[in-house]
Parts: sequence; structure tokens; C-alpha cells
Amino acid sequence: MGSSIGAKPSSDFKPLDKILKSMPKAGKGELIPLLQAIQNAYGYLPKDILAEMSRRTGIEPSTIYGVATFYEQFYLEPHGRHTVKCCRGTACHVKGSSRIIRTLQQNLGVEPGGTTEDMEFTFETVACLGACALAPVMVVDGTYYGKMTYRKVDTVLNSYRQASKENA
Ligand code: FES
Repeated sequence: MGSSIGAKPSSDFKPLDKILKSMPKAGKGELIPLLQAIQNAYGYLPKDILAEMSRRTGIEPSTIYGVATFYEQFYLEPHGRHTVKCCRGTACHVKGSSRIIRTLQQNLGVEPGGTTEDMEFTFETVACLGACALAPVMVVDGTYYGKMTYRKVDTVLNSYRQASKENA
């Protein structure tokens, strides 16, 4: 159920050292796996780590940021261990997604786009999750919760909190 990666403080170059040692010829062609490895190690792509990676590999910062901002999988800001997405699209809206969104906001204590203080969850709303037949839909990491109701929000979130405690 997701990873237990937390956001490490940046400026700790040891994980970067390790990554670059394991990919000694890393260049533009390996930029995506390189960024994935950095994000796995740090939980997101810290600016100072990207600057150091650019210095050591010779890959231009503009190329790095071009790729990092193009792909949705990359985060330039600290990101929660779990990503909760709730659909605000029409099919979900008519089936009560606004109440689910409000309940998520209350439970997590953050607005859409925010990350909880304990770095457990990042909360996002999206225009359509591509599963309108299951409306209203919520997704946590890759798991879809279809025909969702606001009453189930606490149970679903608590199962992830519980799993994180067990993995701690
Ligand atoms: S509108 Fe919600 S999944 Fe499409």
C-alpha cells in the first residue's frame, strides 16, 4: 500500500552520491531514471540536490527542470507518502463528490493541493479520474475507491495511517 518514503531534509548529499555511483555514466539519456531515483530517495526533487546533480553530471538545469515539470510523476515540493485524489468532475459532482471533498479537507486539515504536516498525505482534486461509471471516485496512490461516500472517508484514510504505523 504505497511506499514509506518520507521527505528527507535536502542538502544531505549522501543519497545523491549513492545514486550517481550506481549510474556513473548518467547523462541526458538517463535523466528520467535519475530523477526517479532522486525522488525515491528524498521523497521529492529538492532544488539543491538537482543543482548538485546538474553540476556533477553536466546536464543543464533547464533540461532537468524541463523534464521534472513535464511529467506528473515528479514533485518539486515535499510530497506526502500517499496521494489522495478526489474527482470533482461532472459525473462525480452530481453523485456527491463535493461532500467527499469537504470531508477529506476536514479529516486531513489541508486544502486541495496541500500536504499534511506529518507528510502522510498530499490531497488533490482532479477534473476526471477516467472512471465515471464508478462515480463518485477517489484514488489513493493507485487504488480506486468507486461509489465512494463521505462516510467512508475516515475508514479509508485510517487504513493508510495504520499501515504507515505498522511499517514505521
Ligand atoms: S467525472 Fe469523476 S471519474 Fe470522471
